[in-house]
Amino acid sequence: MSAELRKINFSDNESGKLKSLVTKVHEDCPSQIQSRYLSRLEAYEDQFPIRLTDIFWEDPRPLLLTNLPTFSDVEGSKILVLSIGEAIGKCAGYSEYNQSYITDIRPSTLSNESSSGTELLTMHNDLTFASDHCRPSALALVAHTAEGNVPKTLLADAVEIASLLSSAELNLLQQNIYEIRAGGKLRWPCEQVRRISVLEHDASGRLRIHMSFNNICPISGLDETTTHQANDALKRVTEIALEVGRAKGHVVKKGQALLIPNDYVLHGRDVFEDENFERLLFRSYVITREMARRQNGNTMISLRL
Ligand SMILES: [Fe+2]
Repeated sequence: MSAELRKINFSDNESGKLKSLVTKVHEDCPSQIQSRYLSRLEAYEDQFPIRLTDIFWEDPRPLLLTNLPTFSDVEGSKILVLSIGEAIGKCAGYSEYNQSYITDIRPSTLSNESSSGTELLTMHNDLTFASDHCRPSALALVAHTAEGNVPKTLLADAVEIASLLSSAELNLLQQNIYEIRAGGKLRWPCEQVRRISVLEHDASGRLRIHMSFNNICPISGLDETTTHQANDALKRVTEIALEVGRAKGHVVKKGQALLIPNDYVLHGRDVFEDENFERLLFRSYVITREMARRQNGNTMISLRL
């Protein structure tokens, strides 16, 4: 990962075109239903001002979009995040999670989600336990409100994390000797345990990483030394991820959007230093068009697949 966050600055003309697109979709959908917004965006798919799909997926690193149009009405920012998600794939919701194409991220006592707290949110991917058939491929984040002392979104690339690990640690983390507990917060009848490796290469040889707070551990049945070493490697990768995440994080401001490739880059959120801020982010999960085709075009999908 290069030192600088990769950035595309929309020209005033491109920003104006995007504002017109969002406004048109808003006017077309007086009922303000997310699935209606998505079907209108599909009808206008060639009107997004920049072709982002190849730029984003050929080199899956975080991508910051700047000089975006801003909206005083939350519906405008919601359509904006959906339009950006659709520019790199298909926005997706999960039937056993919150059944929504958009999630609001803000400090709130009204939600049990970990992203709605104010403490440090350690480095992780979203829905890490889910299989390659349904796990979100990317996150699109748009700031509707970001004023005052807003905390950083922490970002750590798998390649950079791996470069700071020893070869012994790398060797352990690439083995299928870890398990992840899943489903505690989902609408599943019981928790499930799935076997994973923390690091793995995808079909084209790019390094992926899988981390999820404290619900990953070495599988039982390993000998005592390997269990110990596997635990140490996990602890080490967690520490390094936070170090890199803090160095490479970014405060998402109004007029900006951040795209994060979920399998290749971990994210987290720094502590809220004080209460002098107002922040409302909208997040949409995005799956690749290929994954959407394999789901027969269904974008409200199950995490069991
Ligand atoms: Fe997250």
